[in-house]
Amino acid sequence: MINANETQIIRFRIFGLWFPSFVISCILSENVKYYRKFRYVQIMETIQNPKSKIQNLKTAVIGVGSLGRHHARNYAELAREGKIEFVGVCDANEDTARKIAQEQNCDFISNWRSFLDTVEAVSIVTPTETHCEIACAFLEKGIHVLVEKPIARTLEEADLMIKTAEKSGAKLMVGHLERFNPAMVVLRPHVTKPLYFEIHRVSPFPNRSLDVDVVLDVMIHDLDAIQWLVGEDVAVSAIHAVGIPVISDKVDAANARIEFENGAVANITASRIGTEKIRKTRFYQTNSYVVLDYATKFASITSLAPNAVHPLLGISINRLEIKDVEPLRAEIEAFLNSILSDETPPITARDGRRALSLALGVLEKIDTHAKRVFPE
Ligand SMILES: NC(=O)c1ccc[n+]([C@@H]2O[C@H](COP(=O)([O-])OP(=O)(O)OC[C@H]3O[C@@H](n4cnc5c(N)ncnc54)[C@H](O)[C@@H]3O)[C@@H](O)[C@H]2O)c1
Repeated sequence: MINANETQIIRFRIFGLWFPSFVISCILSENVKYYRKFRYVQIMETIQNPKSKIQNLKTAVIGVGSLGRHHARNYAELAREGKIEFVGVCDANEDTARKIAQEQNCDFISNWRSFLDTVEAVSIVTPTETHCEIACAFLEKGIHVLVEKPIARTLEEADLMIKTAEKSGAKLMVGHLERFNPAMVVLRPHVTKPLYFEIHRVSPFPNRSLDVDVVLDVMIHDLDAIQWLVGEDVAVSAIHAVGIPVISDKVDAANARIEFENGAVANITASRIGTEKIRKTRFYQTNSYVVLDYATKFASITSLAPNAVHPLLGISINRLEIKDVEPLRAEIEAFLNSILSDETPPITARDGRRALSLALGVLEKIDTHAKRVFPE
């Protein structure tokens, strides 16, 4: 038998659980409305607008290996939808170029220079060591470029690309794809002031992109993301890092601790010799704990209601609702829309340079650590 007093307590507990969750979801939904003012959200809305008109823009993809073939598929799809003209693909390996051209029903070439007089916008998806030369040739002619990450191998190359784009006025965007992951898109407006990140990005050995190490190939995604979330103007105050080559002759696994001037700290583990695929970021900001899983496209925010009488009664886990758009399609559309609207692309060459600079800083620390551990 439950007496009246106990019924009262049960009611209070149910109300205590329900009411704080209700309050938090109201606050969060208000926050979404407020942050929708941010340009990033506006861009995501624009690119999902099917009425955008870029019909006559002549586009092409250079490098159609493991990632470039997906660029080609997306451009071909956009062309079928009447949004652009897709001139064709280029790959130094003629068999690869022919195969992808057959799949996408377009023309192919094996020397990108032939596109210099025929296209207005290109995706460059070749190995990093070729980015600067190819991008600068197109930018010089005023042709808009979406270049894959990392922007280049060195800061000097990145600077040359930035200068060339500024001189001709062509758009130069860098493909930091994770910014377009639907989980990140829905989470971004809720990010206030992250202070502590735990990040894991692990994948099995890829057998590609071996011209660069795991920091430039893999960790750079998270280096771009933390700088974006902490604030583009917040300087890095310290970097500690360790990394080792295991299978290739370059660093295959690395861990870095990045400290920002505003007190934020990120601990990032990146490996390309794992046994499973992990793409998980967890971070803490005032009054909330955030989980972001790029692989499963999941984002949640755990917080305590401001008026909760006890933590056990006031914890709310808000699983954000994801709009499942292919990130690469969103990225390409954002690039095309920046051309159409003559606006700065959502990921600029300076963003790409900033991520590269951070990655090179991590590599320098890895090198210092290796020299200490294995003195010659
Ligand atoms: N944003 C992401 O998530 C992501 C993921 C994977 C790769 N990438 C980046 O994309 C780029 C390509 O990586 P990948 O994994 O597709 O490599 P890949 O080796 O699979 O493909 C590269 C292709 O470029 C071709 N190529 C090389 N030199 C060329 C040249 N001078 N002209 C024309 N074609 C040329 C090669 O024949 C190959 O087909 C790299 O910069 C890499 O870092 C980005």
